Amino acid sequence: MKTTLVTGASGGIGEEFARQLAARGNNLLLVARSEDRLARLANELAGKHNITAQHIAADLTRRDAPHDLFAETERRGLEVDFLINNAGFGSLGDFTSFDAARDEEMITLNVSALVLLTHLYLPLMRARRAGAIINVASTAAFQPVPYMATYAATKAFVLSFSEALAEENRGHNVKVMALCPGATDTNFFAAAEGERPPYRIMQTPQAVVETALRALDRGQSHVISGWSNYFMTQAERLVPRSFVTRIAGKAMRPFSEKSGR
Ligand SMILES: NC(=O)c1ccc[n+]([C@@H]2O[C@H](COP(=O)([O-])OP(=O)(O)OC[C@H]3O[C@@H](n4cnc5c(N)ncnc54)[C@H](OP(=O)(O)O)[C@@H]3O)[C@@H](O)[C@H]2O)c1
Repeated sequence: MKTTLVTGASGGIGEEFARQLAARGNNLLLVARSEDRLARLANELAGKHNITAQHIAADLTRRDAPHDLFAETERRGLEVDFLINNAGFGSLGDFTSFDAARDEEMITLNVSALVLLTHLYLPLMRARRAGAIINVASTAAFQPVPYMATYAATKAFVLSFSEALAEENRGHNVKVMALCPGATDTNFFAAAEGERPPYRIMQTPQAVVETALRALDRGQSHVISGWSNYFMTQAERLVPRSFVTRIAGKAMRPFSEKSGR
């Protein structure tokens, strides 16, 4: 059965991908750690949209988790033709105040799990000459972000990796795209133990996912969600990188101080 696999589907942007894709008639496999939330969402969407929605509770910071997930999809006979690598988290604060183990978990989730899942599912999509992958990066992918140093670096990886794979797979009828949202109204800032940006600069997950699905339909290799985010990332390219980093540091320091780190 053709299935769309969404990681980080228990809330925020991942949940919204599930909602919009269910409305398009995609069968779903929802993955995150919060089993109750996944089960509730899968039931709701299956009932509303006449689709099959399944879930698997998994902690993708466990090194074996992507392999276990792949084995389970094979066992269930699911043909994953659309993979959305969305699960991720950030930390806000001075680098020296972070627990090294937490930073390592971030790199494992935001980078290693995403690469491994791509390794596992992309060859099958290529063999079928059909499929799509969306990797969720961030506007933080375009520049260094002081006080979110590791997070921004993971997202720079995701953007570069996705654009390269988009080109490699152009002739194989498999689309790969990086989604680069700016501040979005989700649980992200609470999870990062940081101050929420003012609501007026935040996008809704609905707007972010609509932008992503439109861009994927058009065959883009990356998309920046929201006009102000787009203009900001373009403007950054016109000035020296050191200047952009200095300004970002000044902007982020108050948020990091309020985070208590
Ligand atoms: N919100 C923003 O401002 C923003 C901006 C740019 C990019 N992004 C990116 O967007 C993506 C989605 O984030 P969001 O904003 O929707 O934040 P969110 O509301 O905190 O959602 C994060 C999702 O990832 C899952 N997750 C976290 N740790 C996990 C783990 N160890 N294993 C499996 N799943 C895990 C969470 O579910 P469980 O807790 O149930 O596991 C949740 O479903 C992330 O990659 C984030 O970096 C967000």
